[in-house]
Amino acid sequence: MATYHVTTFGCQMNEHDSERMKGMLESLGYEEAPARPDADLILFNTCSIREKADERFIAHLQEARAIKRRRADVVVGVGGCWAQSVKDEVFRQFPFVDVAFGPGQVHKLAEFLTSDSITAQGFFEFEGFTGHLPEKRTREFQAWLQISVGCNCVCAYCIVPSTRGREVSRPAGELVAEVERMAADGVREVTLLGQNVNSYGRDLPRDERVTFAQLLARVDAVEGIERIRYTSPHPKDIREDVARAHAELAAVCEHVHLPLQSGSSPILRAMRRTYDRDRYLGKVALIREHVPDCALTTDVIVGFPGETEDDFRQTLDVVDQVGFDGAFTFLYSPRRGTEAAELPGQVPHEVKVERLQRLVDVVQERARERAQRFVGRRLDVLVEGPSRTDAARLRGRTRHNKVVNFTGLAAPGEIVPVQIAAATSQTLSGEESLVARAAAA
Ligand code: SAH
Ligand code: SF4
Ligand code: F3S
Repeated sequence: MATYHVTTFGCQMNEHDSERMKGMLESLGYEEAPARPDADLILFNTCSIREKADERFIAHLQEARAIKRRRADVVVGVGGCWAQSVKDEVFRQFPFVDVAFGPGQVHKLAEFLTSDSITAQGFFEFEGFTGHLPEKRTREFQAWLQISVGCNCVCAYCIVPSTRGREVSRPAGELVAEVERMAADGVREVTLLGQNVNSYGRDLPRDERVTFAQLLARVDAVEGIERIRYTSPHPKDIREDVARAHAELAAVCEHVHLPLQSGSSPILRAMRRTYDRDRYLGKVALIREHVPDCALTTDVIVGFPGETEDDFRQTLDVVDQVGFDGAFTFLYSPRRGTEAAELPGQVPHEVKVERLQRLVDVVQERARERAQRFVGRRLDVLVEGPSRTDAARLRGRTRHNKVVNFTGLAAPGEIVPVQIAAATSQTLSGEESLVARAAAA
């Protein structure tokens, strides 16, 4: 039997797409190889969001070349955002690549593998949803749901609109049917995916139009789905109906990932984020009004072109005021074809690094403080497997999306009460409450 190996880079959308790639390959009769050197088909699902992402991937690709030198019949395939952003250049730069395809063309991989063609092929149209392909889930009780592809925003720093195309939503009926199938198959937690989930549905025909909040309600109504998450919302599009969904729908978790990017209004304008500092703070207040205990996480970029020390202090100030439960922090990285890459006032690398360090300090301090509110509480934890630091313990997540390491007897996929004893900025720790477990049984 032919075997495959997939390496995934980038965001959750890519993780989703890789699960679909695997599902499609297995339906073609391929079997997953334990390691890259054992595979007949070596695949990469790539990301190009920052320069670092490109560099990491190129190193892996060189390894594939070495394998192919030893075994000439190995097929090397490159999919995802990096592939899309360099298109046919892939074959010029890396002549050992056999097939390259963008995020909208994963299904063409099947066509390539079943054709007799031995020449390199590239597929880069935006068509179809990877969500239509069969899936192979990493964990049987957690699933991704691709509600839309593409992005109609024009954030000046971002390569995604050019790698994923214009936004297209999947019809709600199709999504609900998919969630019902997943639930019947043992899924308890579903994460809705889109580049801007809040604009979901706006492109659907009028008589099929469903808002994001309505979609949440329809997924919430599916029997067996106990947790609903989504990523990412755009702050400009978060409205009261979504904030209320968190309060009113039992399965929608108490966590919102709300990308800030910058706390300075002039920089937000230059980024073309279409909200300013006050409007962002207003959205935070709206969420907290409806769900006071909601966990909030964010993304922040430091060193966008033209960012002054004063602009950066505005970012620190917003981060301090909001008190995020966690944040992904990035050095601004100029991306090919984006508006910001051509802007004057590129910030020197050392200045970016210094600002990032100061930002991380504030993020961690506030996250550590915020996490203390969980100490002494008994929280429901969805068990994911053994703890990464101590195999004798378990690891799982709370509804607030906090990782918990704990002692207990539960199996992966179970939701169990855990008594929280301690908290750091990143993780909680505790003990499964066996009394509560016995009472519930
Ligand atoms: N569509 C999502 C995710 C975008 S990519 C959203 O809008 O939230 C994830 C994060 O990467 C972004 O939120 C941003 O913080 C960061 N990012 C994107 N482009 C970047 C760049 N050129 N340099 C540094 N960080 C970037
Ligand atoms: Fe990129 Fe902005 Fe679209 Fe997110 S909303 S994918 S940051 S262009
Ligand atoms: Fe995701 Fe990277 Fe593409 S973050 S959308 S895989 S550029």
